[in-house]
Amino acid sequence: MLPTIEWKDDRIIMVDQRKLPVEEIYHELKTFEEVAEAIEKMIIRGAPAIGIAAAMGIALGYKNLGKDDKNAFLNICERLSKTRPTAKNLFWAIDRMKIKYESSQGKSYGEKSKALIEEALEIEREDVEMNKKMGEFGNSLIDNGDTILTHCNAGALATGGYGTALGVIRAAHFSGKKIRVFADETRPFLQGARLTTWELLKDGIETYLISDNMAGFFMKKGEIKKVVVGADRIVANGDFANKIGTYSVAVLAKEHGIPFYVAAPYSTFDLSLRSGEEIPIEERNRNEVLVINGKRIAPEEVKIKNPAFDVTPSRYVSGIITEKGVILPPYEENIKNIIGDK
Ligand code: MRU
Repeated sequence: MLPTIEWKDDRIIMVDQRKLPVEEIYHELKTFEEVAEAIEKMIIRGAPAIGIAAAMGIALGYKNLGKDDKNAFLNICERLSKTRPTAKNLFWAIDRMKIKYESSQGKSYGEKSKALIEEALEIEREDVEMNKKMGEFGNSLIDNGDTILTHCNAGALATGGYGTALGVIRAAHFSGKKIRVFADETRPFLQGARLTTWELLKDGIETYLISDNMAGFFMKKGEIKKVVVGADRIVANGDFANKIGTYSVAVLAKEHGIPFYVAAPYSTFDLSLRSGEEIPIEERNRNEVLVINGKRIAPEEVKIKNPAFDVTPSRYVSGIITEKGVILPPYEENIKNIIGDK
């Protein structure tokens, strides 16, 4: 499995996720500004992955300063925090880099720079470990013979490796369970069609691509036994933001009595927000909806809305799979107990 992002010789290498699976193009980024733009343009995407990219971008930006300058360091952090608003993991990773900077006071510039690089790599390593633990906990919810629906891409490409929702699916598959996956194509950016199917097929998992409007049809026919998705931000009452379209899938799942699980590490939780209504939702460029593969599909002058995420109320969630265990309702209380005050 190719790494989503890699620190190599004071450069950041990342695969261009806009081009997969047709082309495998790698970018070598030399400045924090290039990293910020890569996050904005979704060369790299997925909540944990953009957190790791931001942490590496900060380490790279500080290294390029050539000397200690706290204001410049904070400006780099500020720039990266302006890239995408919804995923908590981005802000969590930036805060962790700030804490590392503060705790390195009294060290030489070279030592501080090394500590920041090491912290970014540690964030990446921890993420993969958490995904594997989530996989184990999540696997206990999957039965042999299940067909699982997933939305967007919550796989290796969206994380440091292995994946959150796809980590659960991988764990079930590699534990010997015979499972099938239905991947929603995930308009408008097509993460499900382009990235999820590509990842799962590489692991030899039986995968069906469906367009987003087909989920209800297959649920009604009784073909889908579980839904597992990732998350960009989970708040204190268990409401969560994930890729646009997740809410519709959750409502459909409840209507058909299908268990609906969310898989996410503690870096996705934002206990400072009490309900999902408070989560900032990113609005992206109109061309993502208007243009497919370079071809316009509607009149140029049509008005367009393009929210990148939606919020699913926790009453639709059967369980939240974390690296610390599966959190069940009542969420307010159990999230506090398992994730703690962050
Ligand atoms: O806009 P994206 O592609 O960054 O959105 C990604 C998602 O919504 C994922 O489902 C989420 O980040 C969980 S990834 C482990």
